[in-house]
Amino acid sequence: MKENHKILKNFVDKDLCKRMSDFIKQKVKQDKFYYDPQCTISPAMENIFFDVGIHLKPRLEKELGCTLDHTYNHCRYYRTGEILRPHKDKDQCEIALSVTLDYDDMHKPWPIYVYDNNEIIKAELDIGDVLVYKGSETLHWRNPFKGTWQTQAFIFYATDERFVDPFIGKLEDINFVTEFKVDG
Ligand SMILES: [Fe+2]
Repeated sequence: MKENHKILKNFVDKDLCKRMSDFIKQKVKQDKFYYDPQCTISPAMENIFFDVGIHLKPRLEKELGCTLDHTYNHCRYYRTGEILRPHKDKDQCEIALSVTLDYDDMHKPWPIYVYDNNEIIKAELDIGDVLVYKGSETLHWRNPFKGTWQTQAFIFYATDERFVDPFIGKLEDINFVTEFKVDG
């Protein structure tokens, strides 16, 4: 990818987004989440969308013109007042995808910003829209969230084997146990 970001409208099937969102909400209800220091009031979950990462990979490779390894994924149930301060991601997030899954219908989707080529880009992603960005190189952030809730998934890839998790290995090479399946 030449530029540091790309917006892909309708990249993820809307029904799939809805199912992913319901899955996150169910996990929140069951108390199966954690809080992390980056977004302290929004439940987060790690590596529950492995199957989605593999499912999107061929189309993303075509779109970007390179081969990718799915390295890692996480997701959040954003709550009112959340903020995401400007930061870059770790090396495993070389190619990052942020996908809006669903949000409360009283508000618009919560914008994410990236700093690319001396320009601030505001990305307003509706359900199924994706922001692709070079996660480990590109500053990204969100201003305080005024909506009630929004579910978001982050799917990460790397073009370089160095960035594959040394403890987990290549996600696609192991039989990663995941409850969520793309095909129901
Ligand atoms: Fe990030």
